[in-house]
Amino acid sequence: MDAEHTPDSILIVDFGSQVTQLIARRVREAGVYSEIAPFTQAKTAFHRMKPKGIILSGSPASVPDEGSPRAPELLFDAGVPILGICYGQQVMSHQLGGEVRPGHETGEGGEFGRAFITVTEPCALFDGLWEVGERHQVWMSHGDKVTRFAPGFEIVAVSDGAPFAVIADEARKFYGTQFHPEVVHTPDGGKLIANFAHKVCGLAGDWTMAEFRKTKIEEIRAQVGTGRVICGLSGGVDSSVAAILIHEAIGEQLTCVFVDHGLLRLGEREQVETMFRDHYNIPLVVVDAEARFMAGLAGLTDPEAKRKFIGSEFIEVFDEEAHKIGGADFLAQGTLYPDVIESVSFTGGPSVTIKSHHNVGGLPARMKMALVEPLRELFKDEVRALGRELGLPDIFVGRHPFPGPGLAIRIPGEVTKERCDVLRKADAIYLDEIRKAGLYDAIWQAFAVLLPVKTVGVMGDYRTYDNVCALRAVTSTDGMTADIYPFDAHFLTGCATRIVNEVQGVNRVVYDYTSKPPGTIEWE
Ligand code: XMP
Repeated sequence: MDAEHTPDSILIVDFGSQVTQLIARRVREAGVYSEIAPFTQAKTAFHRMKPKGIILSGSPASVPDEGSPRAPELLFDAGVPILGICYGQQVMSHQLGGEVRPGHETGEGGEFGRAFITVTEPCALFDGLWEVGERHQVWMSHGDKVTRFAPGFEIVAVSDGAPFAVIADEARKFYGTQFHPEVVHTPDGGKLIANFAHKVCGLAGDWTMAEFRKTKIEEIRAQVGTGRVICGLSGGVDSSVAAILIHEAIGEQLTCVFVDHGLLRLGEREQVETMFRDHYNIPLVVVDAEARFMAGLAGLTDPEAKRKFIGSEFIEVFDEEAHKIGGADFLAQGTLYPDVIESVSFTGGPSVTIKSHHNVGGLPARMKMALVEPLRELFKDEVRALGRELGLPDIFVGRHPFPGPGLAIRIPGEVTKERCDVLRKADAIYLDEIRKAGLYDAIWQAFAVLLPVKTVGVMGDYRTYDNVCALRAVTSTDGMTADIYPFDAHFLTGCATRIVNEVQGVNRVVYDYTSKPPGTIEWE
C-alpha cells in the first residue's frame, strides 16, 4: 500500500520466527491492518506506514550472540506502543539496558511447549481478560531468558521457567511476553494481541474488506492510469478475485489470459470461460498451449526442473499474448501475502527454497511490464472474504487452492497427456465423492496423485498391471502447516472402488497420511 492510503496499522518487525505470519493474522482478526517487515527493512517500513503500534517477533537467533539481529533504535524513541514477543521481548530488554543470558549460562533449561503463567500485577494487556492471581496456559519456546529487565519495566506475570513471563512499562506502553501469544496453544493469545491493538494502541478495529476494496480500486486506478493490463487467470480463487477487482477499477483496460497448459482439472477451462466471459463480461483470451507444454515436459522428471520449465513457459506464452493484443503495460497477478513473506528471510538474503513457486517474481526483465498485485497484503481467507464482497458465488470462492504448475506436480516422474487424462478422471471421482459426502468445505485441499509405480491386480479373471493412485486431503488455515483429513474407512473404500472400476489405467488406490511438516501438501 502506498503511504497516502496506509490505514491505521501495526508494524510487525520480523526477526525470522517461523510463526511471525500468525502475529499478522491475529492483528488482522482484531480488525487492524498490519504488515510484516524484516528487521533490516523495519526503518523504511516505519516511515512509510506510520504505524500506531509495533510488534517485535520471535527469532531462531540468540540475543547474546554477536551479530544477532537488533531492532532499529528509532522504534524505541518514536512514542509508539511496542509489544515484544519472545526474542522480541529479549532484544527490547537488551537494547533498553536490561540483560539477557543464554540458557546454558543460567544453568536452567529453556521452556518448550505448554506452560502456565501466574498474573502478579494488573496490566493493560490483560484488561478485561486476566486477573491478578490467576493461572493461564501459554506456549513457550525459549532457551535464553531476560535476567534483568530494563529501567522502567516491572514484572506483571511469572512462570516457573521465566520469572519475566510478561513485563510492562505502562508509561511508555512497552510490553514483553516470553511466551508466544500468536499461536493457538496460547488460548487467550488472540485476545491479548487484540488488547494491545485496541486498548494500548487505541486502534478502532474497523479494518474491513469493504474498505480494502474501495482503497484498492483507487490505488489500481492511480497505478495504471490509462495503461493496459494483462492478467493471467488460473481458474483459482486468487487470480479470479484479482481480475474481478481490477476489472471493477479499470474496466476494458484489462484483458484476461487463460493459459490451458493441459495440466488443468476436468472441465476447468469451460468453467473459467463461462464465469468470466458470460457472467462478468471480462475480455478473455483462452490460449490452447497443451501441445507445447507437453513437448517441453517430455523427459523431465526432476520436480524443480518441471516447475521451472512450466514457470518460464507460462511467461513465454504471456509475452506472446501481450504482443498479440498490442502490448500491455502491466501484468496483474494474484500474489498473496504468504508468497511475499515466504520469499524473504530475516537476514535479508534468500531463504531456503523448498519449492519454486512460479507465481512470485518470475518476470524476465525484457517483458518491461510493471506488476499489479492487489492481493499482496492478504491472506487466503481474506481473499475469500474479498471475493464474496465482490459478489463471487460461494461455490467458487470456497474452491480448494490449485497450484500454478497444475497436475504436473501431482504426477511424480514424467508428465504425459495420457497420464494427465488418467489423473483428471480419478481426481474428478474423488472430489465428486467428497462433495456428495458434504465434506468439501471442511477440507483445505483434496486431490488425487498419479504415482510412477505399477502394481499387479486382478479384475474378474484377468491379471492387471497398472498405475497406483494416491489420494490426499488436508486441513489447514493457510497452507503453511497441514493435518491429514481423517476420512472414515468406508468413505475411502468407496472412492477406491469407484476409481479402480471407472478409471482405466489405475488398479490400486492408497491414502496419504502425512502431515505438513514433514510432508508438503503437494507431492512435488
Ligand atoms: P506445499 O506443497 O508447498 O503447498 O505444501 C502449499 C500450498 O501452496 C500450493 N502450491 C502452489 N501454488 N503455485 C501456486 O500458486 C505453485 O507453484 C504452488 N506450489 C504449491 C499448494 O497447492 C498448497 O495449497
